Amino acid sequence: MIKRQTLACTVLGLSTTLLLAGTSVIAEEYDEDTYGPKNSIIWNTPVKATFDHKVHTMDLELECSSCHDDLFAMQRGTAVDSTEFTMKAMADGEFCGACHDGDTAFATDTNCMACHAASEEPLMWNEPTKAAFSHNMHVEDLGLECNSCHSTVFEMNKGAAAAMDDFTMAAFKEGKYCGACHNGDDAFDAASQCEACHFPPTEKIVFNEPVKTVIFDHDIHVGRAELSCESCHKEVFVMEQGHVADSELAASDDPAVKRAYLETLHSKFCGTCHNSNQAFGYLTRCTVCHIGVKGYDAMHGGDVKADGHGKSGH
Ligand code: HEC
Ligand code: HEC
Ligand code: HEC
Ligand code: HEC
Ligand code: HEC
Ligand code: HEC
Ligand code: HEC
Ligand code: HEC
Ligand code: HEC
Repeated sequence: MIKRQTLACTVLGLSTTLLLAGTSVIAEEYDEDTYGPKNSIIWNTPVKATFDHKVHTMDLELECSSCHDDLFAMQRGTAVDSTEFTMKAMADGEFCGACHDGDTAFATDTNCMACHAASEEPLMWNEPTKAAFSHNMHVEDLGLECNSCHSTVFEMNKGAAAAMDDFTMAAFKEGKYCGACHNGDDAFDAASQCEACHFPPTEKIVFNEPVKTVIFDHDIHVGRAELSCESCHKEVFVMEQGHVADSELAASDDPAVKRAYLETLHSKFCGTCHNSNQAFGYLTRCTVCHIGVKGYDAMHGGDVKADGHGKSGH
């Protein structure tokens, strides 16, 4: 399996001609016997890294023997099974580090992105709330180095932070995770601008307990009324369903106590705005919020069974 340089030149010459002629380019032939496996070798544990034979054999014209079998076995997965396949070993000149030493090729303590391409797509968390992080924005637009986050603040591994109990706003406030920079100093405070990182629920929230059926729509409040998340989620509501429903229900049979409770319930939550001042008052238009079982059914095409209303949810 010796690299044939003449073939590479012919193919290159041909595709250049095609390009100049303005015709669509025919996919260049890649001969696995000559250049090694066509598909990228991708490692996923402990972090994602990629190696391309094409770059090293076809483009850089390295012989198979420059890697096989001294540095790497010709068997995918061998290196990673050895537990020695680490950045430290590479810095000591092993594996990729045999060439990636800042001399023969770029060093392994630079250019992390070349081998550990973080995905272009923003990382998404869906639990307990929906939030996003963009590498593109932090790395390309802001020019942050990989090691400003990896691996002191975050592991280079999707889901690692989410597996920790303390991946919370409270921990951010103490300078952990996103809060390492989002402290109002190095970057905007995580206790503000929630909408920069979080997405509001797209479905209407329906309160079914203890009365049916109060409806709350983020679209109207965030979209149409242009309220920031903080206007509700800092003081009025916790960003999780069930906060209102769990509020202490007046167990008393005394109508006066019940009335007082209702007053508090409404004024404390929705009534902070629905006070005939910022928005229509809660004492006036009960049925705009309390759409009732009929309203709820109508919203769902009249198809919902009565027993579907028992639980708080969508
Ligand atoms: C710059 C280093 C390098 C060069 C040069 C190189 N390889 Fe590889 N090759 C690798 C690495 C890294 C692996 C994956 C080893 C591992 O996972 O332990 C690999 C794996 C392979 C595999 C196994 C793939 C599989 O799916 O199991 C084959 C086959 C292979 N190489 C063929 C070749 C041939 C043929 C050439 C010469 C044309 C070549 N390699 C040149 C680094 C290289
Ligand atoms: C035998 C020497 C050698 C080994 C071993 C080697 N590389 Fe390379 N690699 C090179 C050279 C030479 C270049 C091109 C010079 C440069 O970009 O600094 C290169 C370039 C690259 C590039 C840049 C590709 C591009 O599109 O510009 C990546 C990514 C890369 N190597 C990954 C790896 C990984 C991952 C390993 C280990 C699995 C590895 N290399 C092992 C010699 C080697
Ligand atoms: C030349 C390619 C290359 C470059 C450049 C590179 N890495 Fe790696 N890295 C690898 C390979 C290959 C592995 C082993 C495969 C794996 O762990 O998934 C690895 C493993 C790792 C690991 C897990 C193992 C360990 O050592 O803890 C971390 C973390 C890591 N790299 C971080 C970085 C950071 C940060 C940078 C930049 C400062 C960087 N790497 C630059 C190729 C590279
Ligand atoms: C501002 C912080 C920050 C910087 C800078 C940063 N990352 Fe990340 N990276 C993260 C976070 C957050 C995660 C997700 C960690 C988690 O889920 O626990 C992550 C995860 C990753 C992952 C695994 C994700 C996946 O899709 O598999 C890779 C690979 C990665 N980063 C590479 C890089 C590289 C390469 C650079 C530099 C070019 C870089 N990161 C710079 C914050 C950062
Ligand atoms: C290493 C520091 C650092 C870490 C860690 C970090 N960021 Fe950032 N982030 C910045 C800087 C710097 C800015 C730009 C300055 C500003 O907007 O205040 C920024 C801006 C942002 C923006 C604003 C985007 C825009 O459109 O303006 C978002 C969203 C964001 N970061 C999300 C996150 C999330 C989510 C995390 C945690 C997973 C995180 N960041 C962790 C440094 C960091
Ligand atoms: C810099 C980005 C960022 C900003 C700004 C931000 N958050 Fe978060 N938040 C996250 C990330 C990342 C998580 C963890 C993943 C998840 O829960 O989706 C999280 C988790 C949460 C959680 C669930 C975990 C916990 O702490 O209870 C709540 C609730 C929350 N955020 C509310 C808010 C509110 C309210 C604001 C505005 C005052 C806000 N966040 C601002 C990134 C941010
Ligand atoms: C006008 C008030 C208001 C505004 C503004 C608002 N929310 Fe909410 N949000 C609520 C209420 C009410 C609930 C349900 C609370 C409960 O059940 O106790 C809720 C619940 C949530 C939940 C939990 C949903 C679930 O299914 O568990 C998330 C996540 C959330 N909001 C995110 C956001 C984000 C992000 C923004 C800003 C873009 C935002 N909210 C703006 C009032 C608001
Ligand atoms: C931070 C202020 C604020 C809070 C808290 C708030 N709203 Fe609103 N709400 C508004 C504003 C502003 C409007 C739009 C102006 C208007 O219709 O009076 C609105 C409009 C509405 C509408 C009218 C929709 C339509 O089709 O016209 C309903 C229904 C509603 N809110 C229900 C609720 C419920 C239920 C709660 C409590 C779970 C709540 N709101 C909490 C500010 C708020
Ligand atoms: C801005 C929206 C809104 C308006 C307007 C509104 N309510 Fe409510 N109401 C709620 C929410 C939210 C709850 C708590 C969720 C639930 O109990 O299902 C609630 C709960 C109740 C409850 C049950 C309390 C309990 O725990 O036993 C009663 C009874 C009630 N409202 C009566 C009324 C009456 C009567 C009016 C008109 C004078 C009214 N509401 C106007 C939003 C509203």
